[in-house]
Amino acid sequence: MERTFIMLKPDAIQRGLMSDILKRIESKGYKLLAMKFLRIPREQAERHYAEHKGKPFFEGLIEYMTSGPVLMMVWEGENIIASMRTMMGKTNPNEAAPGTIRGDYAQQTGRNIIHGSDSPESAKREIELFFNDYEIQSWEPSV
Ligand code: CMP
Repeated sequence: MERTFIMLKPDAIQRGLMSDILKRIESKGYKLLAMKFLRIPREQAERHYAEHKGKPFFEGLIEYMTSGPVLMMVWEGENIIASMRTMMGKTNPNEAAPGTIRGDYAQQTGRNIIHGSDSPESAKREIELFFNDYEIQSWEPSV
């Protein structure tokens, strides 16, 4: 079973989209293993987006991602990394298909409301950056 790191960005929180997005993920049958609501320290935001350092949008991205609280989560499911990226839609919301999260709720690349890991390596790195082992629950339904 695969795990991924999902983050609802400050605009998703501010626009009241949290419950709609969580409903899509939960309804798909994925299992929530961890959740945190916080304002990311700048240093952690820079580490999270290290691959974009030096790009023209980097400073704006960090400013934005640290401007308000985000909802960080670890979810588990069958092929969840690729499937969540399909559910999220393309990075540029104008190219994201209707029915996807970004296609339905966003307009700008810099305000694309949700982040999801793009590979097993990124998922591991991102989960370890933001969560301690004891914050990640392993559980089975008992009913
Ligand atoms: P995300 O999936 O979180 O990963 C990197 C983020 O950088 C991306 O979503 C966008 O929010 C942002 N990003 C990527 N390209 C651009 C761009 N050209 N202009 C502004 N922001 C960008």
